[in-house]
Amino acid sequence: MNKIQKRYDRIAGLYDILEAPMEHMFSKWRTELLSDAAGKTLEVGIGTGKNLPYYPENVQLTGIDFSPKMIEITNKKLREHPRSNTRIIQMDAEKMEFADSTFDTVVTSCVFCSVPNAVQGLKEIRRVCRKDGKVLMLEHVRSQNKVTGKIMDIINPIPVYIYGANINRRTYENLIKAGFDPNQIEVNDLWFDIVKLIRIKNTK
Ligand SMILES: C[S@@+](CC[C@H](N)C(=O)[O-])C[C@H]1O[C@@H](n2cnc3c(N)ncnc32)[C@H](O)[C@@H]1O
Repeated sequence: MNKIQKRYDRIAGLYDILEAPMEHMFSKWRTELLSDAAGKTLEVGIGTGKNLPYYPENVQLTGIDFSPKMIEITNKKLREHPRSNTRIIQMDAEKMEFADSTFDTVVTSCVFCSVPNAVQGLKEIRRVCRKDGKVLMLEHVRSQNKVTGKIMDIINPIPVYIYGANINRRTYENLIKAGFDPNQIEVNDLWFDIVKLIRIKNTK
């Protein structure tokens, strides 16, 4: 088990409580993110299943995460509020066991701050999402502002130690490195230039 997996296992029991203060903002962003999910949908890094209540009913959902303890909490929520056509699998986003072009939609929220090799994880998303399928991401990234960006770089080791999450990831640049077409990436700032809603058409 790698270091980041272990950190999410360690924080799993407290994750929803620690995130609660931000959830009033995130719940409206999750609604916006997931209203576009359709068909066979993969959520990468499903964590404690915070997005579950926001999926349209007809979505056939597969959720993956590499932390068994985070998954335990998602499964508990699913036992309490069952959802048809839903399966949760422990899997590494960097080495997905799905065939090419399996999914119509791929979703991530607050995941590419912590995937150890982000470019490899994004390449895998591009591979398992079908041609012209959708990739929907709600992600926080490093600010472009000189001072804020520098501060984020300096304090980054703290959230990495506690959570396994980086606050200075350059996710747009990583998408380009992973081979997504810049002309098909739509980015909207939700909170300053740090929290972003990213919608991609996967032209392959
Ligand atoms: C900050 S949490 C976000 C959870 C959830 N998406 C949300 O919106 O609350 C990040 C999640 O990504 C998972 N994760 C990070 N890297 C991963 C990888 N390579 N493969 C699978 N899951 C990963 C972690 O285990 C954790 O559950």
